[in-house]
Amino acid sequence: MAEKFDAVDVIRHKRDGNVLTPEEIDWVIDAYTRGVVGDEQMAALAMAIYLKGMNRAEISRWTQAMINSGETMDFDKLSRPTADKHSTGGVGDKITLPLAPLVAAFDVAVPQLSGRGLGHTGGTLDKMESIKGWRADLSNDEIMEILDGPGCVICAAGAGLAPADKKLYALRDITSTVDCIPLISSSIMSKKIAEGTDSLVLDVKVGSGAFMKDIDQARELARTMVDLGTDHGVKTTALLTDMSTPLGRTVGNALEVRESLEVLAGGGPEDVVELTVALAREMLTAAGKPDADVEAALKDGRAMDRWRRMIVAQDGDPDAELPVAKDTHDVIAEEDGYLSKLDALAVGVASWRLGAGRASKGDPVQEVAGIELHAKPGDKVKKGQPLMTLHTATPQRFERALESLEGAFEISDEAPTPRESVILDRITAQ
Ligand code: URA
Repeated sequence: MAEKFDAVDVIRHKRDGNVLTPEEIDWVIDAYTRGVVGDEQMAALAMAIYLKGMNRAEISRWTQAMINSGETMDFDKLSRPTADKHSTGGVGDKITLPLAPLVAAFDVAVPQLSGRGLGHTGGTLDKMESIKGWRADLSNDEIMEILDGPGCVICAAGAGLAPADKKLYALRDITSTVDCIPLISSSIMSKKIAEGTDSLVLDVKVGSGAFMKDIDQARELARTMVDLGTDHGVKTTALLTDMSTPLGRTVGNALEVRESLEVLAGGGPEDVVELTVALAREMLTAAGKPDADVEAALKDGRAMDRWRRMIVAQDGDPDAELPVAKDTHDVIAEEDGYLSKLDALAVGVASWRLGAGRASKGDPVQEVAGIELHAKPGDKVKKGQPLMTLHTATPQRFERALESLEGAFEISDEAPTPRESVILDRITAQ
């Protein structure tokens, strides 16, 4: 069958700064999925988009074409409304774990179709897999059953959702075209829209540990994704949140599960609780429950109850001890003062080097590896006290991890200006 377009013409069209037509977009994504447009041609088009950009209508069509490349899920049969959250990824970002059962405690279904980590930010599935017996791979029927029962599910996103994105994302990774707002936003939103949620809250991270290092870029990414969700009938809002320093006091798989359990038991670090509560409020408001008393559900065990039911439904043992590392190494304060800096990226890289993350797709991760933070910026520290404890199953990794922590923290005589909130801004549909 003759093809409707020639890839060379589509590439030239964008290279010269033109707006791609809806027909060109539909064709190029479909032809790429079928293998008619080759990787070298898609790489050239991705670079042209990187350099020339796309307008709102083009991004929306591009997203729809990626959705059309695969299957979509349908939660209409559920008796509950659905709400989902997506984070652009950060260091110590375990929020999905307490958030999903917290929102489910108010009879709003939360389908958290998640991924594994690559690079310095951990993947939600990697964290969950440190729970004995827990299973990430579920059939669509199992997902529906759990959403009808416990009300929340954290599981692997099936390969059938937006396969064009899967192919394109791998290509962008090796052609320096990842950090491009039209391509990031269409990539994230195609998967979220294909998943079929009624509403979505985006946690767009800003700072050294995030994709977006500055707030203006993060705001533009958030605005683009909120517009995309809105244009596709998904109620979407975004919070911009600080990722200049790690979230909470643990980084690494089992360590982050432990901290999430503290939050579900009504305790936990202030920043993790603040963000969990704020995101839960966004999700519950979008689902028509703006008056839900979110804090009470953390304190009185309702969220913990949903967590336990979810873990059991996925063959996990909620009472099993979490694994702990045999080898630890303390990083000691060399002077008295206030911790004035603790860099998220450096801590993320150190945790990754300890074994918490993977260098290539498919590598195993250590459940036990990671970092416990004994001080956060603003805390008073004493010479000789441990600032952090590194954990690993392979002690030969300590040296490289310590190298990445050089210059990562500072102690000063004066207390730094306290951060008022982990939330920097909120973006809504317009
Ligand atoms: N996550 C995605 O799914 N896609 C991107 O392009 C970037 C982050």
